[in-house]
Amino acid sequence: MTSFPTDEPVAQASPTALRALIESRRAVRRFTAEPVPDAVIRDCLEMAVLAPSSCNLQPWSFQVIRDPALLARLHPVCLGQNAARVPLLIAVLARPDTWREACDNILEYWPEEQVPAPVRAFYSGTAQFQYNQGPLGLLGLFKRLLVRVVGLRKALMRRPNSLAEMRIWAVKSTALAAGNLMLAFQSHGYATCPMEGFDEVRLRKVLDIPRRAIPVMILAVGRQGERGVYNPRLRFPLERHVSWL
Ligand SMILES: Cc1cc2nc3c(=O)[nH]c(=O)nc-3n(C[C@H](O)[C@H](O)[C@H](O)COP(=O)(O)O)c2cc1C
Repeated sequence: MTSFPTDEPVAQASPTALRALIESRRAVRRFTAEPVPDAVIRDCLEMAVLAPSSCNLQPWSFQVIRDPALLARLHPVCLGQNAARVPLLIAVLARPDTWREACDNILEYWPEEQVPAPVRAFYSGTAQFQYNQGPLGLLGLFKRLLVRVVGLRKALMRRPNSLAEMRIWAVKSTALAAGNLMLAFQSHGYATCPMEGFDEVRLRKVLDIPRRAIPVMILAVGRQGERGVYNPRLRFPLERHVSWL
């Protein structure tokens, strides 16, 4: 039998250490000019993409912006926010358009000599139907009708069955990677600010973002500057969000 790393004892961060890291992350709006080393950026991106993703299709991409001229052009695109005055911006993009290539990549990069038959069947068969919405999303429309009928008799996956649902599908996994990315920088001693305050049309033009890619957020990264955190932490009581069933 093949031994997977998951069969071995798992190296665990202590809850105390993890809580300390999570609690230390704040949205920082003032940074110093100190550049972030490429080795740190790479390490953090590696941790970002360890995030789980739907069917492991990894529907994300990242644009790492260090060029001072480009950073200067992006400042007004980010609506002149203080947070966007940084030595590093990372545009975190969701990619509902890369699933087909990703199915091929799974088979290509499979970490064993033989791709198990069920894995091959899924990525070269089931997934091709599940994620394909056809031209203008027309296949998605057909699938929505199909699941209504088939779903009367048994439980089944009902989404994503439209181009709009594909966007949600990709954004979900990408947001998890963005969460990892912020914590990874935090672990290296760099502060971050996730931003959705930007002009998407101008952002697409400046960064030449592929038409179907979705800018989920722009991450500002750097050493925390003076008075970098504007407000004390505020979270609603847990009871407001949680139901115990
Ligand atoms: C999707 C998203 C978009 C955000 N956009 C901005 C932004 O454009 N500008 C900004 O200053 N903060 C932005 N924030 C940061 C939030 O305001 C911040 O996380 C929140 O106030 C809680 O503060 P904390 O992260 O320090 O706990 C954003 C956060 C998220 C998750």
